[in-house]
Amino acid sequence: MKQFKILSVCLLALPFFSCSDVKTDDGLETKVEELLARMTLQEKIGQMNQLSPGNADEVAALVKEGKVGSILNITDPEQVNKIQDIAVKESRLGIPILMSRDVIHGYKTIFPIPLGQAATFNPQVAEDGARIAAVEASADGIRWTFAPMIDISRDARWGRMAESCGEDPYLSAVMGVAMVRGFQGKSLCDPTSVAACAKHFVGYGAAEAGKDYNSTFIPERVLRNIYLPPFEAVAKAGCATFMTSFNDNDGIPSTGNDFILRTVLRDEWKYDGMVVTDWASATEMITHGFCSNRKDAAQRAVNAGVDMEMVSGSFMEHLEELVSEGKVSEATIDNAVRNILRLKFRLGLFNNPYVQTDQSVKYAEAHLAKAKEAAEQSAILLKNDNETLPFTGKVRTIAVVGPMADAPHDQLGTWCFDGEKEHTQTPLRALREMYGDRVQVIYEPGVAYSRDKRTSGIAAAVAAARRADAVVAFVGEEAILSGEAHSLADLNLRGAQPELITALAATGKPLVTVVMAGRPLTIGRQVEESSSVIYMFHPGTMGGPAIADLLFGKVVPSGKTPVTFPKMTGQIPIYYAHHHTGRAPSGHETLIDDIPLEAGQTSLGCTSFYMDAGFDPLFPFGYGLSYTTFVYNKLTLSATDLKADGTLTASVDVTNIGKRAGTEVVQLYVRDKVGSVTRPVKELKGFRRITLQPGETQTVSFTLPMSELAYWTRRMRKEVEPGEFTLWLGTNSDEGPSADFEITK
Ligand code: NOJ
Repeated sequence: MKQFKILSVCLLALPFFSCSDVKTDDGLETKVEELLARMTLQEKIGQMNQLSPGNADEVAALVKEGKVGSILNITDPEQVNKIQDIAVKESRLGIPILMSRDVIHGYKTIFPIPLGQAATFNPQVAEDGARIAAVEASADGIRWTFAPMIDISRDARWGRMAESCGEDPYLSAVMGVAMVRGFQGKSLCDPTSVAACAKHFVGYGAAEAGKDYNSTFIPERVLRNIYLPPFEAVAKAGCATFMTSFNDNDGIPSTGNDFILRTVLRDEWKYDGMVVTDWASATEMITHGFCSNRKDAAQRAVNAGVDMEMVSGSFMEHLEELVSEGKVSEATIDNAVRNILRLKFRLGLFNNPYVQTDQSVKYAEAHLAKAKEAAEQSAILLKNDNETLPFTGKVRTIAVVGPMADAPHDQLGTWCFDGEKEHTQTPLRALREMYGDRVQVIYEPGVAYSRDKRTSGIAAAVAAARRADAVVAFVGEEAILSGEAHSLADLNLRGAQPELITALAATGKPLVTVVMAGRPLTIGRQVEESSSVIYMFHPGTMGGPAIADLLFGKVVPSGKTPVTFPKMTGQIPIYYAHHHTGRAPSGHETLIDDIPLEAGQTSLGCTSFYMDAGFDPLFPFGYGLSYTTFVYNKLTLSATDLKADGTLTASVDVTNIGKRAGTEVVQLYVRDKVGSVTRPVKELKGFRRITLQPGETQTVSFTLPMSELAYWTRRMRKEVEPGEFTLWLGTNSDEGPSADFEITK
């Protein structure tokens, strides 16, 4: 593989560089202590400072004086080397700088947004994506990224859902760990390794009303059962750093929250990595009304357990004084600096701080191939009436319509600083290039961009549809409509897109709607109007070739929804693992139009539902069809009576009863029927991707240690409670055979 070749060339060129002495942590603490002992208080505080570079001379001067530990967002390898040269040769102690940047779902080769990666239910996709991002980013000197983002996201109004792995703690943990593995590689000191950063610690995704930065109100038990598990998983997997979140939870901003930063992270999880604030989140505690001034902010952040301050500079201004006043102990500073130095040693920066990989890795063919595979697996088939897809030989002409058909910038998605639209392959281009010899492609966008309200182009799109055998409408959201600070109160398709779909549907031609978006949109009407619907969370550089092969059946869809799709925004927050209310769902929904005029006071079946939306979402969590059909039979359990330390094997026969090979994500859910506190109706505990030939049956077995059923109980301890459980093995969170078992004392 290309990256290994490049690495070996570098190793030959740099005979004094060796990763081996930092491969294990042997001797690491001694090195940290020796260096720490030589540092002045000012130099220690300098290490705790992360700079957003301004004037180059000023940066150079600060580096020389040992006043900088890390710098954000320099992507010119020459500049990186110049700064490292100053740090290593001209600062008193020669401590290298940690170069950082947001490399979230790719550096140059852009993978699907993390929500799309989560839709693959394939950790290998996430690992490959992160590895490739690390190889490309490290070629420009970046050795620390601010990913994975593993905030549990149950509110699609929140624009940052795009960056997350969705609503489920288990899926987020599995994908987050895979991303950490990919970014950090086999050893952090490999020059292509990039330190990962688990963010945002913690609860940020529960922003009230889905408004970014908003307050959260997560009780400790929910924090521990839902929001913390992905973070614990990545901490245990060696994620090098953590980032504090912007939100205040129950009145305490994370950056000043010693319960999460010390009690949980350090004392309970024994984490020895580094903690950085989010962008100015230390001084944002003043705006929150939690700190009175910058000095107070620095004091509270450091005492709470922050090691490095991102950009706001209050540590540099006030820590020396705070130490002299005894408000922050030098021991606290020492611990923070230990965490920073430990990371720099682990990254091998003291051995070689310079950029070591070559530029040709960017957009390497192997990277593009992996990005295409990721986009393919991220595509979710939501509907496919009359086997409209895949297109057969009967389809000779297709009308390609819609604002996302040829939107190279927008299909890259949010948090994409470095991917270039010039390298993006759009659906239009791919259909022409890959299938142009098989079908005639008529392109008529109808609507220019997703927010475009003009309906004047729709007639031409309809005329194109009339000339074609089938229509493919690419709709959705521009990249800028999701991501940080881009929350929405209305999740319907924007602009004139709904009118476009309605007009296309009226032609009677088979209508395939492909949605590219940063979140689940409320597309109920478009689903009804379309023959087929494929949902792609912004698919990245290779989204075009991926969808082309999906439409023509070279690839069969296998993605599953990583979040519940609401019918209406008013159903939010909506997620499958909700608790049971005291009212069981009744089989009958009395919807608003069924209620007689002047009906007497009635409690409509006494259930917890919306009169205008019913019980159900548009699509449940874990949902996604294939071009073939999978049938589940013969669920068997190895035992029905287990002890808390026992292990259960659950198996099911999955048969492909269709005519094509296909890949299915078999999902395992469990319900703890009675607990010392009420429990979710279902929780994902495992999943597996399997590929079956037509007619093939596979017995899929899962091993489930009962310890996996532990949760934070009434006494606020993580324990397995004896009692009855139900287990499902199915194709999504709503379907599949079930069986009961019991844990006895
Ligand atoms: C603010 C964002 O919340 C965070 O996710 C990001 O890593 C930092 N800015 C740095 O750009």
